[in-house]
Amino acid sequence: MTDTPVFLMAEPTHYDVAYRINPWMKPGVWSASPAENRLAARRGWDALKEALEHCGASVAAMPGAAAVPDLVFPANAAVVLDGLALVARFRHPERQGEEPHFLAALSGLRDRGLLREVRQIEGCFQEGAGDCLWDAGRGHFWVASGPRSTTASVEVIAETFGQPVVHVPLATERYYHLDTCFCPLSGGEILYYPPALTAQAQRALLDHTHPDQRLEASDEDAEAFSVNAVCIGHTIVMARPPARLAARLAERGYDVVPVGLEPFMLSGGGAFCMTLRLDLSSAPVTALAA
Ligand code: ARG
Repeated sequence: MTDTPVFLMAEPTHYDVAYRINPWMKPGVWSASPAENRLAARRGWDALKEALEHCGASVAAMPGAAAVPDLVFPANAAVVLDGLALVARFRHPERQGEEPHFLAALSGLRDRGLLREVRQIEGCFQEGAGDCLWDAGRGHFWVASGPRSTTASVEVIAETFGQPVVHVPLATERYYHLDTCFCPLSGGEILYYPPALTAQAQRALLDHTHPDQRLEASDEDAEAFSVNAVCIGHTIVMARPPARLAARLAERGYDVVPVGLEPFMLSGGGAFCMTLRLDLSSAPVTALAA
């Protein structure tokens, strides 16, 4: 095991926006200029991969596949901790065809020694790290139920990984995955969008954080998919953020790396959704001083 962060990404070769399973998805905008959008998607995907590698991360790329355009969002593939990948069960038929592709890709990564075990979740819907975020500093998962993952998944995750979970149910269809509205940062702060969280989730957040660790995202921040970010040490990679958010994060000691991900936002996804971190460990860490 090394300290190099390792991410899975899925090649955007078959990416498009062909259906609508969340309110952000705009098949009409995509199909008005598919060639340009495909090109821009390739550029955005390459830029994201490069930004992660520039932070010292290594990226394993799996191939895209026909008829499953959202395969490009591997955050939804699995929950991964301590080398165990718990593979998703997707809510929508449009995405269920991704499950065998992710199972195969993750099994291949296990064979290469990048994972220890690959297993599929049973008895519930659960959309991977999209609805289950490991908080390394606090040593627990933040687990959402909502439009995609069912409440039953919370207990299955707790039992499977033998780690504490904090249940943060989602309030809206618009912020349909936890990673669209909630992002634990390496210094212990949580960047989050309050209207996306139920009263229960907001209470849980209050119970587990100090006031100065709670960074509220504005409407504008959330709509720019800035909360859907990848934090590696002091660097935060995200879709182009509003200037005020970048300044607030800089004040806290973070370097924000903006990436042009507009073609993926047409599907309701940003930087975090396009990655799946494979090397997370439950071993206690000391939070970075920002
Ligand atoms: N179109 C995809 C969906 O609705 C986008 C998924 C984005 N992934 C995420 N982890 N938020 O399922």
